[in-house]
Amino acid sequence: MAARPGPDRTAWLLLGAVLLLASTAAAQSCLSATFSGGQTFAQCNTLPVLGASLHWTYHPDSGTADVAFRAPQSTSGWVAWGINTERPNAMLGSSVFVASQDGNGVVSVLMTYLESTAPSLANNTLKFDVPVGPAAEYSGGAYTIYATVALPGNNTQQNTVWQAGPVSNGAIAQHPQSGANMQSYQVLDFLSGSSTGASNSRLHRRNIHGVLNAVAWGILIPTGAIIARYLRVFESADPAWFYLHIACQCSGYILGVAGWGLGLKLGSESVGVTYEPHRSIGISIFCLATLQIFALLLRPDKENKYRFYWNIYHHSVGYAVIVLSAVNIFEGLHILLPPSGYKTAYIVILATLGGIAVCLEAITWPIAIRKRRRNADKRATSNGNGWQQGA
Ligand SMILES: *[C@@H]1O[C@H](CO)[C@@H](O)[C@H](O)[C@H]1NC(C)=O
Ligand SMILES: *[C@@H]1O[C@H](CO)[C@@H](O)[C@H](O)[C@H]1NC(C)=O
Repeated sequence: MAARPGPDRTAWLLLGAVLLLASTAAAQSCLSATFSGGQTFAQCNTLPVLGASLHWTYHPDSGTADVAFRAPQSTSGWVAWGINTERPNAMLGSSVFVASQDGNGVVSVLMTYLESTAPSLANNTLKFDVPVGPAAEYSGGAYTIYATVALPGNNTQQNTVWQAGPVSNGAIAQHPQSGANMQSYQVLDFLSGSSTGASNSRLHRRNIHGVLNAVAWGILIPTGAIIARYLRVFESADPAWFYLHIACQCSGYILGVAGWGLGLKLGSESVGVTYEPHRSIGISIFCLATLQIFALLLRPDKENKYRFYWNIYHHSVGYAVIVLSAVNIFEGLHILLPPSGYKTAYIVILATLGGIAVCLEAITWPIAIRKRRRNADKRATSNGNGWQQGA
């Protein structure tokens, strides 16, 4: 293919320049940091969340790193940094330094191994050696933790974690279980300084999970229900509404199951953290929707006396799926904490679908009543054909 003309290349150059500037700015913000006693560190990394940064000097001979971790926090909160010697992207199994302060502003550091999601926080239980330190200070609205750590396994690549949370009644209390607080880990190479934002790829997949499920269960399925309920009232839309309904529900189901599967995968990866209502509601929605698909195969003939009961069943399961989906999308938004625009957008979509349903309800009522009366008259002489009734 011939080379594309100018604008495309200009856009790429601009993008490159912006990325370069952004990465320089990110590096700059950690490079400009200063430390008490004039200490300096050879390398630094601006961490992707919680406003934190890590500064270190790696000593290959001893397999150790002098580390300074800095994170903003109020005087009534704690911050922590550590290494997970057991698994990447997880709090469970991490050995961490936790800095906090008492009512008099005296800062202390706890060195503790996180054996569960409700850890005992016993001091001096780290899974690696700390040849020097630790020490911590609080100034300018940020904690800094200093320590020299023996990198576990004399390996330069480590699963690092960091965190911030509240102090309650003088005790270290649980950190928030959503948003940035669930993205605070990365694999860091203390030699090269490169970090693999494991958190970014996971965040990316969480966003895909959210968008897939919101479109499938939150838009396609309710739209399909609206089509079935209101379009079939119009004679001219007779077989069309049925195929539209099937198309909406099937594509919604396929996308929704993909989003649901991704959700299960994300859940199995987040060791020790289960988002209980969200998970249970998601599984219920999947079961009900799958039941709905199988029920299609058992649909009695229109004239069958059980068709009336089948209709009641089909409608109640369908509405249950729609209501549970809306509830679960809000649950999911609450966990993911995307920029507030997403929640607003979903509320607008929900309100629009609701508004359309109310309008169509008003428009189609008289038509439906008239038709029902006419069909009742006709029933004696002929068996009506088509989908328009009670499908
Ligand atoms: C760690 O590894 C480096 C380089 O492979 C080696 O020179 C050093 O002796 C090792 N240190 C320890 C404490 O095992
Ligand atoms: C934990 O132990 C270290 C050294 O043994 C000590 O300096 C530190 O103050 C202790 N931390 C707490 C919170 O008690």
